[in-house]
Amino acid sequence: MTQNGPKTLRSRDWFNNLERMDMTALYLERFMNYGVTPEELRSGKPIIGIAQSGSDLSPCNRIHIDLAKRTRDGIRDAGGIPIEFPVHPIFENCRRPTAALDRNLLYLGLVELLNGYPIDGVVLTTGCDKTTPAQIMAASTVDIPAIVLSGGPMLDGWHDGELVGSGTVIWRSRRKLSAGEIDEEEFLDRATSSAPSAGHCNSMGTASTMNAVAEAIGLSLTGCAAIPAPYRERGQMAYRTGKRIVDMVGEDLRPSRILNRDAFLNAIATVSVCGGSSNAQPHIIAMARHAGVELEPQVWQEHGYDLPLLVNMQPAGAYLGERFHRAGGVPAAMWELMNAGKLKGDALTCTGQSIADNLCGSESNDREMIRTFDEPLMEKAGFLVLSGNLFDFGILKTSVISEDFRQRYLSRDGKEGVFEARAIVFDGSDDYHHRINDPDLNIDADCILVIRGSGVIGWPGSAEVVNMQPPDALIRDGIAWLPTLGDGRQSGTSDSPSILNISPESAAGGGLSWLRTGDTIRVDLNSQSCDALVDKEEIARRIADDPQPTIPASQTPWEELFREKSSQLSEGGVMEFALKYRKTSAKLP
Ligand code: FES
Ligand code: MG
Repeated sequence: MTQNGPKTLRSRDWFNNLERMDMTALYLERFMNYGVTPEELRSGKPIIGIAQSGSDLSPCNRIHIDLAKRTRDGIRDAGGIPIEFPVHPIFENCRRPTAALDRNLLYLGLVELLNGYPIDGVVLTTGCDKTTPAQIMAASTVDIPAIVLSGGPMLDGWHDGELVGSGTVIWRSRRKLSAGEIDEEEFLDRATSSAPSAGHCNSMGTASTMNAVAEAIGLSLTGCAAIPAPYRERGQMAYRTGKRIVDMVGEDLRPSRILNRDAFLNAIATVSVCGGSSNAQPHIIAMARHAGVELEPQVWQEHGYDLPLLVNMQPAGAYLGERFHRAGGVPAAMWELMNAGKLKGDALTCTGQSIADNLCGSESNDREMIRTFDEPLMEKAGFLVLSGNLFDFGILKTSVISEDFRQRYLSRDGKEGVFEARAIVFDGSDDYHHRINDPDLNIDADCILVIRGSGVIGWPGSAEVVNMQPPDALIRDGIAWLPTLGDGRQSGTSDSPSILNISPESAAGGGLSWLRTGDTIRVDLNSQSCDALVDKEEIARRIADDPQPTIPASQTPWEELFREKSSQLSEGGVMEFALKYRKTSAKLP
C-alpha cells in the first residue's frame, strides 16, 4: 500500500485471520474452483469486485458481460484479483409497474454484497437509467474505493435518412400516428431503427445523462460516459478502469473523499448544458444524500437554470451519441463550463487529479455539436423549480420548450412567461389513456393536462407518464403540445414541456388530491409559481368532504416496503432510514 493507503486491506480480515484459521480455510476453499489460488488470496493483493449489471433482463447493460473480460485484464495487470458478481437487473422500459422501484432495491442488494464480502474496491458497471445512481448510492454507503464504468450508448439510429434517437423517436412518432401521418407498421419500424446496436439509449435521455453525471462528479475516468458501446475505445476504457481501481485501493480513494457538494454542483451544471433528463433531479439528490450532502430543492434553479444549452443532442437538440462522443463528449461540455468560470475546478476525481486537471485540452472542435457560451443553442436552459398551492416542489425542463409552445403559452396576452389553463385531471395513466380522446372532456388549446396517482407512493415507484400528448383531434389541428403537470416523472428522452416530479404527491396528501377538472391553473414562470385559482374555503371543503383519489394496492412485498420507506421525489425518493448507514464498511468488526 502507498503512503496514503489503508494499513490493511479489508479482505485480509477474511483470508489472513491467523486467530481463526478454521474460518480463513472455509473462506478460501471455494474460490479455488475457478482458478484463484489460496496463495494469491492471502498474498495481500486487493480484491476488486466487478458489480455486473448486464444480463438478458438488463439489455441496455448487456455489453458489460463482454467488457468485464477487459476490466479483469486491467485489474490483473495492475496487481489486483477480479471477482465478478451480479447485481439486481434493471430494464427501464420493460419493468412493471416501473423501474423506479428497482433503484432502491439494487441499492440495498449492492450494499449487502459490498459490505458482506471480502471486496477492497469495486468497478460499478452502469448504463440504463437507474443502474448508475443505484450503484453510486451503494458505494457511498459502504464507502470503499469505487469507479464507474459506463457501458456506453448504442450507435446512432437512422430511419429514411433521418437521425432517430432512443425514446425521442417514440414520442415524436406517437404524435405522427395520432395525426394520421404514419401507420402502426411505420411506427414500429421507426422505433426499432433507433436501436441499431448494443448499448444504452443513444439520445440525451436519462441513461446518457446519468453516465455524464457519474463523470461530472468524478467517479469515471475522463471521457468514459459518451464512448458508444461497440467502439474500440469502450474496451480500452474498460481495461484502463480496471487498472485504475487497483491504484485507487492503494490510495484509499473512497467515495467520501470525492463526493462533496462541489461535485454535485458540477453535475447539476453539466446536466443543464447537456439538456439532460429531468430524472437527474431525484437521482442527483439521492446520490448526494447518500454521500452525506444535503442539496436544497432550489439548488437546481440556483446552479443550473441560468446556464445555456450547449450540447446539440436529442431531445433538446438534433444529434445523437456518436457525434457527441466524436465532438469530445462530457469533457468537452465541461470544458465550456470551466472556461466560463461555471465549474468547481478543484473537485477531486477518481483519477487522483482535480476535475480541472482532467479537462485540460478537452475543448471541442465540432461547434455544431458542442456550442460555446457565446453561441449557445438556447439561453437559460436549465430546470426551473416551481411551487404554489398545489405543491411545494415541481420542476420544468426548459431546454425542451419548443418555439411553438413558447409562442402559444408563454408569450400570450403580452404577459411573458405567464398563462392560465383549464385543468383536465386524470387518475393515473390508465385513466388518461381511456379518456384522453373523450369528446365530452372538451379539451382544447386552453387546457392543461394533469396526472396524479403517479408518484412514489401512488404508482408505486413514480411512473414516467407526465408527458401526456393532446387528444388526436388537437394534434390533427396542429397542436403538438399542451401544458402538462403531474406527480410522476417523464422519460428523459421526451421533449414535452411538463411540470413534473411534483412533491408532495397526491397520494401523500398533496394539492393535486383536491384539484378538480375544470379548475383554472395559473403558471407564472417569472415568480416560479403554479397555483389552482380555487379559494381557501373551497379547498378546505373539498379536503374535508370529498373522497380521496384511490391508488392501486401493492402487488408484491417490495412494493409495500418501498411505499412505506421511500421519500418524495423532491427528497430524491430515498429510503430515509438507510442514510444513517453511510460508511458502513468502516464500522465492520
Ligand atoms: Fe435502458 Fe434507455 S431504456 S437505457
Ligand atoms: Mg426513463
